[in-house]
Amino acid sequence: VHDFSNKKSVLNQFISEMRDVSIQKDSMRFRKNIERIGEILSYEMSKTLNYKSQLVRTPLGEKEMRVPVNDLVVCSILRAALPFHNGILNFFDKAENAFISAFRHHPDGDDDFEVIVKYLASPSIENKTLILTDPMLATGKTLENVLKAFEKHGTPKQIHILSIIGAKPGIEYIKPIFPENTHLWIAAVDDTLNSRGYIVPGLGDAGDLAFG
Ligand code: PRP
Repeated sequence: VHDFSNKKSVLNQFISEMRDVSIQKDSMRFRKNIERIGEILSYEMSKTLNYKSQLVRTPLGEKEMRVPVNDLVVCSILRAALPFHNGILNFFDKAENAFISAFRHHPDGDDDFEVIVKYLASPSIENKTLILTDPMLATGKTLENVLKAFEKHGTPKQIHILSIIGAKPGIEYIKPIFPENTHLWIAAVDDTLNSRGYIVPGLGDAGDLAFG
C-alpha cells in the first residue's frame, strides 16, 4: 500500500477541496481535482513500472533514454472514475482502456447491499499491467466484484489500484482477495465506515458530486 495521507504535498490541497462542503458543490472543480490527483498518482506509480531502453534521435545527435514499457490497460469503475481515468491518460497516453459498471443493490431495502456488475468492455489483460481506478474505496466490495468480472479477460502481470480516499476496513478487506503482485496507490486513508458502508469523514457520494 502506497499511502500519501501523511506526506506534505499539493495533493492535500486537492483532497481538502474535494472534502469541503463549501467547495465540493462546484462540480467542475471537483472533477478537475479528481483528474489532478489521477495525474499525481500516475506519476508516483510510473516510478515502479518496467522500463526499456530506447534510442532517440534529436536534431543534433542521439540519446539513449529509459522509457516505460507500454503494456498498460486502464480501467474506470463507473461513474466517479471517469475524470480520474482522464488524469491517468494524460500521463499514460498510449494505454489501452477498459470500462466497467458497478452499483450497490439493496435487495431488502435495508443497509445490506450487494454490488452488481453489468457492463465490462475490455481488451485482453493477459500478461499486461492492469490499472484499476476508483476514487472511493469504501467496503472494498466493488473492487472484489470487478476483479471477478475480469477473470475471463486473462491474467494480468500486475495490478495497480489507484484511489483517492480509502477506508481502513475496505483496504484490509481487499488485501487477501487480490493477487500478490497488486499495489494500492491511495491519496488519503480514513478510519471508519458508517452502517451504510460510506466512508467517514470521507467526502460524500463522489459520483453525484462529479455528475449530479
Ligand atoms: C462508489 C465509488 C466506488 C464504490 C466504493 O460508487 O465510486 O465505486 O462506491 O464502494 P465499495 O468499496 O463499498 O464497493 P457508487 O456505487 O456510489 O457509484 P457511482 O460512482 O456511479 O456514484
